Order: sequence, then structure tokens, then C-alpha cells
Amino acid sequence: MKISVVYDSKFGNTQKIAETIKEVVERGNEVKVIHVTDTKIKDIESPDIVIIGSPTHAGNVSEATKVLLNMIPKDSLKNKPFAVFDTSVASFGQNIFMKGIIKFFGYSAPKMANVLKKRGAKIVSIQSFFVMGMKGPLKEDEIKRVKNWAKGIIE
Ligand SMILES: Cc1cc2nc3c(=O)[nH]c(=O)nc-3n(C[C@H](O)[C@H](O)[C@H](O)COP(=O)(O)O)c2cc1C
Repeated sequence: MKISVVYDSKFGNTQKIAETIKEVVERGNEVKVIHVTDTKIKDIESPDIVIIGSPTHAGNVSEATKVLLNMIPKDSLKNKPFAVFDTSVASFGQNIFMKGIIKFFGYSAPKMANVLKKRGAKIVSIQSFFVMGMKGPLKEDEIKRVKNWAKGIIE
């Protein structure tokens, strides 16, 4: 199977998740990990499955991820399976103000899924992974959760 893992990352956490996903899914598969700004439409249209991750920025995907999503022509994805994930700040341990902001804006993966659905994608999984504070690091045990999630996608 051909798999593209596309990611954006400002502080390195989403990149770490993308690389972990690759380690899990590469056995017997051809896997390409690509930064979102280097991603061409063929990297989205030609693989058997695409996994896309973006940090949540103001409740939505990052600007660079938005640019890529907007480049995909409407109805072009023809039921191609996509798994989407975001990295977001864990509300655990935040003050009540930050908790309110996080809840109000929401996370970016469901929004990315909605855009991809409009382009014809079949969304097979939507997941959020959590960082402790703006820059991370990833919440404890999150890498374990990433590995389980990635396994589930290709099973
Ligand atoms: C401009 C900006 C806006 C952000 N907005 C949110 C937000 O609305 N909700 C949230 O949970 N995290 C927010 N964050 C924190 C990011 O989710 C966090 O930096 C990201 O998950 C870390 O991933 P990265 O290391 O791959 O960049 C924001 C971060 C930045 C830089």
C-alpha cells in the first residue's frame, strides 16, 4: 500500500507524531512523510491512504495546511481514505480562562475532516493528540496512543 503522511508543525510535536506514524505503518508499505508546504496534489491523490496532521491554531488548522486543503479541487478525492489528526493544548492543568478558550474554539482535526469530505474524501479516523502548553512537549503516553491509532488505521 502507498501511504502519504502529511504534516505541519511549528514547534516539532506534530512532526514527531508524523514520524512515529511512519515507523508504525511502514512495514510492508511504501510510506512518504511530507511537510505540508512540500506537498503536491499528486501526493494526496495517488496514495491508497493519506494521513494528515496539523497543529490547532485558533481552533482551526494551521495557515499552511489551509493553503494545501484549498488547493485540492472539489470532488477530486473520489472516496479516497483519509485519517486526520491534530495536536492541541491539553485542557488538563490549564486555568479556567484557557479551558474556556480551548473549549470555545475547538480542535482542528474535525474541521479538516469536513473540508476533505467536501472534496470527496472518505474519512476513516479523526483524532486529537495533546501537548502540555503552547510549545509542548507531548503529553505523557501520547506516543503510545499515536502508535495504537496508527495501527488501527492500516488494519
Ligand atoms: C498561533 C497559535 C494559536 C494556537 N491556538 C490554539 C487553540 O486554539 N487551541 C489549542 O488547543 N491550541 C492552540 N495552540 C497550541 C498548538 O496547538 C500547539 O502549539 C501545537 O499543538 C504544537 O504542535 P507543533 O509543535 O507541531 O507546532 C496555538 C498555537 C499557536 C502558535
